[in-house]
Amino acid sequence: MESAHFTDVTLRVDGTDHTVHIDNRITLLDLLREHLGVTAPKKGCDHGQCGSCTVLLDGRRATTCLGFAVAHDGAEIVTAAGLGEPDNLHPVAQAFLDHDGFQCGYCTPGQICSAVGMLDEVKSGSPSHVSDDLEDSPELTDAEIRERMSGNLCRCAAYPNIVDAIQQAAR
Ligand code: FES
Ligand code: FES
Repeated sequence: MESAHFTDVTLRVDGTDHTVHIDNRITLLDLLREHLGVTAPKKGCDHGQCGSCTVLLDGRRATTCLGFAVAHDGAEIVTAAGLGEPDNLHPVAQAFLDHDGFQCGYCTPGQICSAVGMLDEVKSGSPSHVSDDLEDSPELTDAEIRERMSGNLCRCAAYPNIVDAIQQAAR
């Protein structure tokens, strides 16, 4: 029996508009994967700890497994699948390929979205925990990349290559 805990929600995902009638308890990740067939964001931990479900949510990186979809009515979501085209890859995706920034690939869509969001944060001058100076624009050292990508785990431990890939994309 349907009750008051269902809501109409409209989202734009990778350029396509969707209006869905959803249970208010569904997470954004489950809405994307189970209802919209958008499988680029992966379910790793489902506890906000691994980063594999990361997307760009209204232009900022965000994990999708902890947020309720109903809280994001009207949002624009870009997943790794919506960045670039297969024959014209986004520079970050191309850099991951060039540097073998993955092995099994399960974490990779989240890593790529997180890297895109992270590079924008650096560009806007946002400091991290390891930035020497909170006022100056941060320099993109390997330590900065590791710190800023520390929310994205990789069980295959492709970390050195991921750092190299992000350095290439930043250039
Ligand atoms: S599945 Fe969302 S952080 Fe792990
Ligand atoms: S490439 Fe396998 S988990 Fe990262």
